[in-house]
Amino acid sequence: MNPITNPYSPGAGTPPPELAGRDELLNKVRIAIERIRRGRSAQSILMLGLRGVGKTVLLDQMRDNAEATGFYTLRIEAPESLSLPALIAPELRVTLLRLSKVEQAKAYSVLALRALAGFATALKVKFQDIEVGLDFDPEPGLADNGDLEHDLAALLEAVGIAAKKAGSAVVMFIDELQYVEEYQLAVLISALHRCAQRKLPVALVGAGLPQLRGRMGRAKSYAERLFEFPEVGALNEEEAALAITKPAEEEGVEFEAGAVADIFNQTNGYPYFIQEWAKSAWDIASESPITLDDVDAAATIAIAALDSSFFRVRFDRLTPSEKKYLRAMADLGPGPHRSGDIAGKLERPVQSVAPVRNNLIKSGMIWSPYHGDTAFTVPLFDEFMQRIMPGDKWKEV
Ligand SMILES: Nc1ncnc2c1ncn2[C@@H]1O[C@H](COP(=O)(O)OP(=O)(O)OP(=O)(O)O)[C@@H](O)[C@H]1O
Ligand SMILES: [Mg+2]
Repeated sequence: MNPITNPYSPGAGTPPPELAGRDELLNKVRIAIERIRRGRSAQSILMLGLRGVGKTVLLDQMRDNAEATGFYTLRIEAPESLSLPALIAPELRVTLLRLSKVEQAKAYSVLALRALAGFATALKVKFQDIEVGLDFDPEPGLADNGDLEHDLAALLEAVGIAAKKAGSAVVMFIDELQYVEEYQLAVLISALHRCAQRKLPVALVGAGLPQLRGRMGRAKSYAERLFEFPEVGALNEEEAALAITKPAEEEGVEFEAGAVADIFNQTNGYPYFIQEWAKSAWDIASESPITLDDVDAAATIAIAALDSSFFRVRFDRLTPSEKKYLRAMADLGPGPHRSGDIAGKLERPVQSVAPVRNNLIKSGMIWSPYHGDTAFTVPLFDEFMQRIMPGDKWKEV
């Protein structure tokens, strides 16, 4: 089939041609932020899911929807290095400058921009990575204590008041939230809590790896009540079929039912893999309908594409002992596995491999569904590890 019209879009954060199976979540967020705009209570929503399930594209879609219906939004991706104040400050500034264009909100937006100036200046000592343009002078006493907990709450309150005057709400969309340091997470939670108590329209919609839930709970014990943690998972068979066939249909191309079922089976319904498989099947097929044989032939190409990108980028960041730990896990199968069993494979005491395990959790490669259990955050990573480190040689390294 013509590769130029191939509709599929494997890639980190690349919007799919059909965002299948996410209507319920989109609706949940729509309701929550609309309630917050009206001064009603609503839990903020933090979506949890493994790598490649579609958290980022979902967050982007939610943000587009919110913007289209008159919300003021911020879009942030937490990297492993920057501090939360450094991430938030420049984005808040843009939002406030936009809010200041609304006549009824102008004075309060300016006040919030002053709060931002105080915030950035006072916290610059502790968080040297804060870089933000200052449009107004600080207002003495407003968000300028130099104490993150107090200042962030004061700043978000000022933002909330401006948003309320504009008859709108400010919604922060934050991706990769699991990378935010626990104390900074706690501070963000309590600032949101304060806004909620004062019925100020500021909300958070976040996404992250499954370990985020535990981090939130540790950061603030009441986080469980403030947030809802819906899971973003693999698609079921019907949703996967839609993700595969609808984009093709729009190009006048069909899939045989057996071909669709085969893609579902081979990908376990994981969105990233579905895109990769469907794309390869399209490229390989010589005519419509795309057949089971086409899908079989496409598997090799799809796996090679994943090996050289989706899996590979993660593998390349690992230290030798981390590779060995993950390879031992892969030897045990898809998981989750008991930490003791993994250590057993490595022929080492559990405590001696604990630091490696901790680092892998921190960098987001693995997580712990239950105490003492360890699972990959990247679907099918066990099979990849077996492909890239075949045989028994890894044991000797
Ligand atoms: N609902 C969906 N239906 C079909 N394809 C999807 C869906 N959601 C995401 N995809 C596709 O899956 C791929 C991964 O999406 P995305 O980057 O948003 O995942 P992610 O969960 O953010 O992954 P990571 O944890 O690695 O950041 C993209 O190619 C995207 O087009
Ligand atoms: Mg993502």
